Amino acid sequence: MGVVIAIDGPAGSGKSTIARAVATRLRYDYLDTGAMYRAVAFAVLARGIDPFDREAVAAVARDVRIELGPPVVVDDMDATEAIRGREVTGVVSVVAAQPDVRTEMVRRQRELVTPMAGVVVEGRDITTVVFPDAEVKVFLTASEEERAGRRALQNAESDTVGVALDLARRDRFDSTRTASPLRVADAAVVIDTTGVTIDEVVEQVLALL
Ligand code: DC
Repeated sequence: MGVVIAIDGPAGSGKSTIARAVATRLRYDYLDTGAMYRAVAFAVLARGIDPFDREAVAAVARDVRIELGPPVVVDDMDATEAIRGREVTGVVSVVAAQPDVRTEMVRRQRELVTPMAGVVVEGRDITTVVFPDAEVKVFLTASEEERAGRRALQNAESDTVGVALDLARRDRFDSTRTASPLRVADAAVVIDTTGVTIDEVVEQVLALL
């Protein structure tokens, strides 16, 4: 395994934007682990399975075929847009909270990263569970207002109050679940991105390497 830059943080903290930009700058690979949990949630819905049925959901996680692309292909379906849609976003936290799903996704993430020379990996448990020995560990945050504003913009949503409520609900769920809750890892550097430009945050991350 090569150099790993691990980035965690809540929704709307700027994780994806920063992780992609850092990967581009360094010519590293990029792994969006949230997309993997979203792909499992998509497959659960596509197969008509109850997201709360732990056994059935765990079985999906184990046998679903996920290609992160782009395009994102789940089993044989192009799910690039659907994994960002409302239905998937509505159930992904429930799916991601299941320990068996996490065990399988963590296994796949380590397997994907093993042959890579340099990679930026983003998610919620990358610095704490998946790659606790990563060369660089970053926890990105931003104020609740800023995170909701960014998400609304990203999804072209005019209902900012609804977006803020949904975001707060998901954060609470992701941070209080028993299996690998979102938290700041030992030796992780916390970067608050509120009111800071993308370039500045990218430079801060690069400086850690
Ligand atoms: O970052 P995102 O919004 O695409 O993540 C989707 C969901 O997956 C979110 O509820 C948190 C969860 N997730 C996780 O539990 N662990 C990860 N490593 C990445 C995402």
